[in-house]
Amino acid sequence: MKNQPQDSRKSLAPREVPPAVRLLLAMALMNALLYLCLGRVFTSPQHSTGNPGHCPYGHFKIGQMKNCSPWLSCEELRTEVRQLKHVGEGAVKRVFLSEWKKQKVALSRLTSLEMKDDFLHGLQMLKSLQSERVVTLLGYCEDDNTILTEYHPLGSLSNLEETLNLSRYQHVNTWQHRLQLAAGYVGAIHYLHHSPLGTLVMCDSNDLPKTLSQFLLTSDFSIVANDLDALPLVDHSAGVLVKCGHRELHGDFVAPEQLWPFGEDVPFQDDLMLPYDEKIDIWKIPDVSGFLLGHVEGSDMVRFHLFDIHKACKSHTPAERPTAQDVLDTYQKVLNSLRDAVMSQTREML
Ligand SMILES: Nc1ncnc2c1ncn2[C@@H]1O[C@H](COP(=O)(O)OP(=O)(O)OP(=O)(O)O)[C@@H](O)[C@H]1O
Ligand SMILES: [Mg+2]
Repeated sequence: MKNQPQDSRKSLAPREVPPAVRLLLAMALMNALLYLCLGRVFTSPQHSTGNPGHCPYGHFKIGQMKNCSPWLSCEELRTEVRQLKHVGEGAVKRVFLSEWKKQKVALSRLTSLEMKDDFLHGLQMLKSLQSERVVTLLGYCEDDNTILTEYHPLGSLSNLEETLNLSRYQHVNTWQHRLQLAAGYVGAIHYLHHSPLGTLVMCDSNDLPKTLSQFLLTSDFSIVANDLDALPLVDHSAGVLVKCGHRELHGDFVAPEQLWPFGEDVPFQDDLMLPYDEKIDIWKIPDVSGFLLGHVEGSDMVRFHLFDIHKACKSHTPAERPTAQDVLDTYQKVLNSLRDAVMSQTREML
């Protein structure tokens, strides 16, 4: 009788589980692990660093800082920030990698007094639009024409291909991460179109390289808007539309309503140009996303799935173009459906 319990335990010993059941258990375990790993790829947090939203207005927290600090004043910028190296430049700002309290920061200096209005507009936008979609403001000094922001070592989106070609970033050079970047770009445009100030148009984007240079790639591979010097406000209810500059624009990158409509024989005249709305940003999405998707294994499959929404973005009638939210929803659906397809293929292989 004493031996009975031992016998029943023995009958549950692993060596007595039939091989087929063990194989099934192993497969179930592998499936669960795969699900968890793939789930991480698709749901990895996009905006984990430098979210000034966690600080009250006028404050910031970057890197390892435990507490929110008020934006630096002129005095603090002059005495506590050490300028190290020139890292970028545009028409309005010259940007220097700098050091503040042992942290890397970006110090922007106005290039020429003629551009002061754009510089101040950009600063005002930075102050008002602090969020996870926009670079973190650390301080400014209008008297010295300086702005201090969080430094992003990967630079602007113009450097994306170079960055992804480095061996240490090979693991993120996949269609999944690149589609997430495209979603990050559309997310930033959506944020500007629904900003706390109203519907803002990303005007400083007349060609692809210029557009890419206005956004930074963060170290956790998300996208933040950086150059907010030309963000006019559209107010549909008051009939207020915008014009991006006063010069004639050319090429396919800008929306058709931004082009001179009266042919080559009629000289360009700005006051004959009709204003337009935020749908010019939607027109540009397929080109920017196309660049972000690049040419890696699987990116053509993603392009195929995005064909219809991108075609709609290129509608000649602005009102027929989708909203940034529509584009985002489609990107998310494509991410989900391709994830499911990849997972069921992996299951079949097992
Ligand atoms: N915080 C930052 N971290 C890293 N690089 C930066 C940062 N801010 C700016 N840069 C680099 O400097 C470049 C120029 O910056 P920015 O676009 O703000 O200048 P700009 O003069 O306003 O440009 P534009 O000619 O478009 O008006 C960026 O494209 C980027 O390469
Ligand atoms: Mg710029």
